[in-house]
Amino acid sequence: MSGLYDWPEKYGDPTWFLHNRFGMFIHWGLYSLKAKDEWIMTQDKISKTEYDMYLQQFNPDLVKPEKWVKQAKKSGMKYIVFTTKHHEGFALWDSEYTDCKITNTAYGKDLLREFVEACRQEGMKIGFYHSVIDWSHEHFTIDGLHPQREDENARNEQRDMSIYQQYLFDQVEELVTRYGKIDYFWFDFSYGDRDWGWSKGKGPDDWKSEDLEQLILTHQPHILLNNRLGLDRGVYTPEQYQPAEPLYTPEGAKRIWEACQTLNGTWCYNPNNLHWKSSEMLIKLLIDTVSNDGNLLLNCGPTARGNFDTRTLEVLEEIEGWINFHSEAIYGAGSSSFECPQDCRLTQKGEKVFIHIFSWPFRTIHLKNFSQKVKYARFLHDYSEIPVKTFEESDVFHHDIPVIGNNETVLELPVIKPDHVVPVIELSLE
Ligand code: GLC
Repeated sequence: MSGLYDWPEKYGDPTWFLHNRFGMFIHWGLYSLKAKDEWIMTQDKISKTEYDMYLQQFNPDLVKPEKWVKQAKKSGMKYIVFTTKHHEGFALWDSEYTDCKITNTAYGKDLLREFVEACRQEGMKIGFYHSVIDWSHEHFTIDGLHPQREDENARNEQRDMSIYQQYLFDQVEELVTRYGKIDYFWFDFSYGDRDWGWSKGKGPDDWKSEDLEQLILTHQPHILLNNRLGLDRGVYTPEQYQPAEPLYTPEGAKRIWEACQTLNGTWCYNPNNLHWKSSEMLIKLLIDTVSNDGNLLLNCGPTARGNFDTRTLEVLEEIEGWINFHSEAIYGAGSSSFECPQDCRLTQKGEKVFIHIFSWPFRTIHLKNFSQKVKYARFLHDYSEIPVKTFEESDVFHHDIPVIGNNETVLELPVIKPDHVVPVIELSLE
C-alpha cells in the first residue's frame, strides 16, 4: 500500500476498497419487528426478559439473502456490510455462546452463512458489522446507554466485564473462523468520551481492542477494519455527515474513509421516518464522496419479513439508472487536483478527468488553470462529443468582451440538459 495513505501495515491491502467506492450497509435484527430504531431496546428501556418476546415473534418468511445481494449488485454496489449482531445482542448466525440467535427463532437457519454464500456467488466483497456493545449480556456492565440504566434492581456489582470480554472474543472468533474469507470487519462503537457521572462510556480498554484486532488478523490476515475499536486507525467512518474535503491525518497523510448514510432517517426499517434522501441527493452524495477520495456505504433496512420495501427498491433503481451510464467516473476514481468548475464536482482516474455537472449551466463550462491540454471531451451517457475551445481558437467576441480568458478552456454545452440527474463529461488530457 503506497505511503500516500495512513494505513496500518498489518491490515489487509485496501486497493479493492479504494477501487469499489460504493457499498451497501444492511441493518436487520429483532429491532426490525418494532420498525422504529435499532436502539429501541434502550430508547424504550426494555429489559432482556421483555425483549426476548421478539425472539418468539421473529419469523421472516420473505427473507432471501441472495435477493439482497443481487439487488446491491444491480444498484452498482461492490461490497456489503451486514449486521451480524447489533447492540440488542441478537446474533444473525448460529453462535454457540448465546440463545439469543436466529437459529432459535422460527427462521431456524444460519442466515449469515446464506448471506456469505450469496455474496460469493455474486462476486460481492463481504463485510461483517459487529457491535462491541451487547445490552442482552448479563455481564455487560450498565452505563448511561444501557436499557437498565434507571433500574434500581440492576446492579453492576453482579456484573463481571471480563466475562463479557471473553464472550465478545468468542463470538468474533466464530465469525472469523467459520465463514471463510471475510473482506472487511466493521465494529460499532467506542464511546469512552461519554461520562454520566455515575458511569463512564466504554472504549478500547473495555473491548481489549488491541487483542481483538490481533485475533481477527490472525485468522483473516488480508482483512480491512474500520476505526471504531477506538484505536484511531483503519477506515474512518463518518455517518450522516458529508466532509467538504479529503480526510488527512495531522501529519498530512490521507485517511481511507467511508461515508455511512441512510436512505431515510433510521438505520433499521422504519416506514414512518419520512426524512428520505432523494435519489438525486444520494447520487450527488456518492459523487461528492468519491471526489474527496471516499467511499459511500449506503444503508438499507429490510422489513421484519426480510424484504426491501417498495420505496427502498425505487431509490435503488434510480441510482442504478445513473450508475449504469456513469460508473467509469466512480469505480477506480478519486479526487482531482484540477480547479473544479462552478456547480460541479471533479473525479479523476489517470489521464481522464470527469466533470459531474450538479447544476446545468447556460452553454459553457469554463475550465480554469488546467495545466494539461484537453485532447477530447464527451458526455459519458451517450459518448457524444463536447466541443472544446481555447483562447487561441476563440473567434467570438461579444461587444469587445473576450469569450475565453487567456488561461481558460471552454466546453460548449447544449442548452437542453441531458436526461440524467447528473450529466458527466469525460475529459481526455494530452
Ligand atoms: C450509529 C447508530 C448505530 C448504527 C451506526 C451505523 O452509530 O447509532 O445504530 O449501526 O450508526 O454507522
